[in-house]
Amino acid sequence: MNHISVLSRELIAGLNIVPGGLYLDATVGNGGHSKLILAAHSNVSVIGIDRDLEVLSIAKTRLFSYYPQRLQFWHGNFANYEPNGLLFDGIIADLGVSSPQLDIAERGFSFRHSAPLDMRMDRSQLLTAAEIINHWDENKLADLFFHYGEERFSRRIAKRIVQQRPLQTTTQLAEAIARSVPPKYRHGRIHPATRVFQALRIAVNEELSSLEKFLERAPYWLKPGGRIGIISFHSLEDRIVKQKFRHSELLEVLTKKPIVPQADELQENPRSRSAKLRLAQRNSYQSSSMGNRRVTASPLLRVALYLSFLVDSPLSPKSCLSQSPIFLSFINLIYITKG
Ligand SMILES: C[S@@+](CC[C@H](N)C(=O)[O-])C[C@H]1O[C@@H](n2cnc3c(N)ncnc32)[C@H](O)[C@@H]1O
Repeated sequence: MNHISVLSRELIAGLNIVPGGLYLDATVGNGGHSKLILAAHSNVSVIGIDRDLEVLSIAKTRLFSYYPQRLQFWHGNFANYEPNGLLFDGIIADLGVSSPQLDIAERGFSFRHSAPLDMRMDRSQLLTAAEIINHWDENKLADLFFHYGEERFSRRIAKRIVQQRPLQTTTQLAEAIARSVPPKYRHGRIHPATRVFQALRIAVNEELSSLEKFLERAPYWLKPGGRIGIISFHSLEDRIVKQKFRHSELLEVLTKKPIVPQADELQENPRSRSAKLRLAQRNSYQSSSMGNRRVTASPLLRVALYLSFLVDSPLSPKSCLSQSPIFLSFINLIYITKG
């Protein structure tokens, strides 16, 4: 049940925590990272989010005893969080599941114990893993395992599941999967059910669309100079983090390559082996609207425009200018570059 927080050193150093700062931990889990943020300075505050009510209550019990005055909690999907005008000095998310979720068998996240096929982080939602496994058609299941689990035997596995269903428990599903793959994969480095379980969990909890929505919104919740750090555990998540950071007009990427655990952490916590941390910092623009962007032209563009004005032909900017106000607007648009 003890969750060891991953990449803690690197995350805390990368956040550059400021005295008196306000931080958002979008996946508070067991509260490990939040506790380190709170410990960094005596007057730092944290708002902790988790969509899992049971996990959130563990975090509350754990953290309130140390920092009762400097904490608030919010239950829900981080994608739907409303900061109501608050701006943060830093935002973190450590994706995936926490140890309490994996270790409480009845939650159905793990095939190590026999449990109902559940996998909901938020137990108030209707969709469960059992619903997907027992009601989706074969092609849809195969596509799910292929796209969200990167499972190369997705078609064979889906076929076997459809033949054997209804499947009620995690271990029944894991056995059906193991029997679908060639014998040499049954005893490989990872259990043959690992990828299918990952795919199911992603689908049940709509993890990728939640992450995308969160990363589109979260940069607006940062103060200028504030930092965001995201820890992901598989390539689908990492790709989204990389793209959203890179394409956000509010963020400057601080980690060209993701930060991965050092040898000592890998030894102490093998679960960290697939973790990747990416960091970005909010730039100093106040708004994303065009009106607030800096209006400058690159030196090369300026020379090109100046030369084009010297040419005297019917199609030159000089002639067009006198005829068309649209051309003027066009020139204006070219001049608007991201400073
Ligand atoms: C890996 S754990 C976080 C562990 C935590 N950083 C620590 O150090 O103890 C991930 C947590 O994020 C929560 N979570 C995952 N996706 C979420 C989402 N979209 N919104 C809110 N919480 C989410 C899970 O319920 C889980 O408790």
